[in-house]
Amino acid sequence: MKRFRDYIDGSIGLRLTLYYCAILLTTLVLCGFVVIFGMNFALTKEANSKIRVAILNVQNTLQNEENPNLSDPELVDQAGSLELWIQVYKNGEIINKSPNFGNIKIPYYDGPVKPILINGQEVLVSGKDIGDGVFVEVAHPLKREKHFLAVLSGLLIFLMMGATLFAMVSGYISVTNTLGPLAILTRKVKEINTGKLDERIPLSGPKDELYLLAQAFNEMLERLEKGFKSQQEFVAAASHDLRTPLAVIKSYNDLLKRWGKDDKKILEESIQTISGATQRMERLVNDLLFLARVESKPRINFVKLNIKELIEEIGKEAQALSQNISVTFNSCDLFVNADEDYLRRALWALVDNAIKYNKENGEVKIISRQEGNFAVIDIIDSGIGIKEDVLPRLFEKFYRVDSSRQSAGFGLGLALSKEIIQLHGGDIRVTSRYKEGSKFSIYLPIYPPAIKGKNATL
Ligand SMILES: Nc1ncnc2c1ncn2[C@@H]1O[C@H](COP(=O)(O)OP(=O)(O)OP(=O)(O)O)[C@@H](O)[C@H]1O
Ligand SMILES: [Mg+2]
Repeated sequence: MKRFRDYIDGSIGLRLTLYYCAILLTTLVLCGFVVIFGMNFALTKEANSKIRVAILNVQNTLQNEENPNLSDPELVDQAGSLELWIQVYKNGEIINKSPNFGNIKIPYYDGPVKPILINGQEVLVSGKDIGDGVFVEVAHPLKREKHFLAVLSGLLIFLMMGATLFAMVSGYISVTNTLGPLAILTRKVKEINTGKLDERIPLSGPKDELYLLAQAFNEMLERLEKGFKSQQEFVAAASHDLRTPLAVIKSYNDLLKRWGKDDKKILEESIQTISGATQRMERLVNDLLFLARVESKPRINFVKLNIKELIEEIGKEAQALSQNISVTFNSCDLFVNADEDYLRRALWALVDNAIKYNKENGEVKIISRQEGNFAVIDIIDSGIGIKEDVLPRLFEKFYRVDSSRQSAGFGLGLALSKEIIQLHGGDIRVTSRYKEGSKFSIYLPIYPPAIKGKNATL
């Protein structure tokens, strides 16, 4: 019993089949009861009226004749054809009775139709005093009706059982067929692990709930696979960028161990290179940590911020740091809702690129303007430009157009900026002409934030 219970619990198909069969059987049983009760009622009513009509016939016959013969067999001859027993009393004595009585004895009864038991058999009986000491009693055995009802009940039970059995078998087969893909889905899900993320569940059959489930599962796998791949690429790129300065530190360390301590020139060079490599590593680790923080969607300390002040601050800083590049800035009062530190970092990454990827005596302009519900900061340079085919990859982590450049960074600046600006509900757009220059535009929703339903959209 426990095993059967476990089997039912473990199979939706069987559970559904049993559930619907139970509903079907209950409905059929109720219908069966209604049919049997209905037939019983109709048959009893018919027998009732037969008895009453027979009494009335006798009464009419006797009343229509002047000298009625109470013992005339014709008076009771309707009995046989109607399956009735009729007997006529005069002053309490039976003086006439239909010939079909056999050894049946019906007790004297004066009253409306009622069922009684005679020789173990159910009989309907009624008696009526029709005057002048004459009393007519009519009875009707219910044997035929009972037999009919018994046969009907048997037939109904047989049909109910048959229908339920048929529904159970066909239902189970069709439910099992319908839920078949679920088993495939379960097997596939069990098979899929991180090494098999390229597996997909085959989509076939009608576009029902199971099809949609398998489709949603495939889409989820697609996203997981992408995420997993980019995670792997990220780890590979990060470790590669960490390995280079580590290798430099190690080789200078070896050099120092061998001759450096005595050779002042080597000692100086080693200290400088090791310090440079350490700084680079520190910057990378800081950038990675910051990126991780930004990607985990931190709670941002939004304040009302005038981007004019930020642009002036960064512009002046850039002017001081850049040699051979002219940095100009121009901004009007424009307010945004932003975290100052985050926004400074995002803007600085773009200005830093504009200076870094510029030409000798090149130009950098930082300009702010309003476009609809957005405050826009354009960072325009007259630098080396970017080829159109690489523009879509620019904001990927660790992506560098020319990774062989000595001055190149880690390829994290743009990725970081984009994450930050998106956290503020904005975006970064880029246009560039190869060898002529680039324009990066930061879009930020203007302060006060747009009212609900009138959201700023890019
Ligand atoms: N203004 C620009 N002009 C030309 N190329 C650019 C410009 N800005 C970015 N790039 C290209 O896009 C790549 C990615 O820029 P990003 O700022 O993400 O990385 P990075 O500057 O190389 O390193 P990091 O910013 O992490 O120090 C750069 O390597 C560079 O090739
Ligand atoms: Mg950069």
